[in-house]
Order: sequence, then structure tokens, then C-alpha cells
Amino acid sequence: MSLTNQWKTQPGEVFAMGPVVPVLVIENVEDAVPIAKALMAGGIKVLEVTLRTENALDVIREIANNVPEAMIGAGTITNAETLHQAIDAGAKFAISPGLTPELLAASVRTKIPLIPGIASISELMTGIDAGFDHFKFFPAEAIGGAKAIKSIAGPFPNIKFCPTGGINLDNMGNYLSLNSIVCIGGSWIVPDDAIKSKDWSRITELTKEAVAQASKY
Ligand code: 3PG
Repeated sequence: MSLTNQWKTQPGEVFAMGPVVPVLVIENVEDAVPIAKALMAGGIKVLEVTLRTENALDVIREIANNVPEAMIGAGTITNAETLHQAIDAGAKFAISPGLTPELLAASVRTKIPLIPGIASISELMTGIDAGFDHFKFFPAEAIGGAKAIKSIAGPFPNIKFCPTGGINLDNMGNYLSLNSIVCIGGSWIVPDDAIKSKDWSRITELTKEAVAQASKY
């Protein structure tokens, strides 16, 4: 099955906009645009807003409407319903923590790419069978980190991964030095306390630091 005819953007384009994807948990809609702009100012164009807060869909809508240069993605997509809600809000891509056959099938019928999450070889094979070739690897550190992904990716040389979960400035190199990994994601770039104190310049500084570190690999 080819996914390319359906989707406006290809997952490879999303990955190529990394190499660092901030994973955002934003409670207040008013913080959405300043955070997105702080990330852009630090050199990050692609971002994932998790659907873990009540206002997450409005946060996506705000960023999609006011920061058009951002490649805004919706995270925590777990079923067709949340996928369609995210698309309605303006998400340009979707990321899920895991995969189900129903979610994969629903995503093939939409216009935005889904990057499904996997944590095992069997899940990866389910995704590949459905035509997918870009995956989130989650929760990366908890399931063996770079060593695990290197082993899992071994038999599938054409598949690319974006690991998230426990990744930070210190360990990102373990991942980015692997051929199968084009980008990594994490929440450390936008810490809760920086959001609470509306310290947008700190987010820009953390972004610059992350981008500089990633460029070494
Ligand atoms: C995710 O949803 O991708 C992860 O929760 C991000 O993990 P982190 O908070 O450990 O960076």
C-alpha cells in the first residue's frame, strides 16, 4: 500500500525539519503562540502538542492560525476520533504513542501523515504491513534506549524512527548517531516552570542549546 498519494505532507519531510521535536504539554491557550514563537526564535520549526490537556485542541488551533511557519503536529493521538479532532484544529501531522489497526486504517484515509508509535518488532511489522515507514519509538529510554532501537531497526534498514521518552541534551547523541534516527523528541526544551513563569526567552535559550547539540551528530 502506498501512503504517498493521500497525504499532503510526507512523514520524511516532518522528520527532516528536526532534528529536535519539542513535546509540548500546554494548559493555557494564551501561552500557545508565545511558546511556538519562542521555539521558532531558537531554530525549531516542527513541534508536537500533546492532547494531554483540556485545551490542547485549542492550543493547536491557535498555533496553526497564528504561527503558519510552524509545522504543528498533534501528539497523543490514540484513535480515529482524536485524529479527526486534531485535523479539524489544524494539525499538519499526527503522532501516536502506540498503534492499533483501526488508527492506522483511519489515518490512511486522511490528508495528514500519522507517525505511529512502536515499542516492539511485532508492532513495527504491523505498521510496515499497513504501508508506514516512519515511526515514533516510545518510551525510548524505558525500553532500552539507543541499544534497543539499534537492534529493532537492524532487520528493517529502510525504516526511520523518532524516539521520545527520557531523551535530553546528554543522551540525544546516542540516538542521533544511528542511521535509522533522523530526529529525536522531548519535553525538556519547554519545562513546566518556564511556562508557569512565562519565561519565553528561557525556552528560546533551551531551544538554541538543543539545536546546537543535535547539530554535532
Ligand atoms: C512523549 O509523549 O513523547 C514523551 O512523554 C516525551 O517524553 P519526555 O517527557 O521524557 O521528554
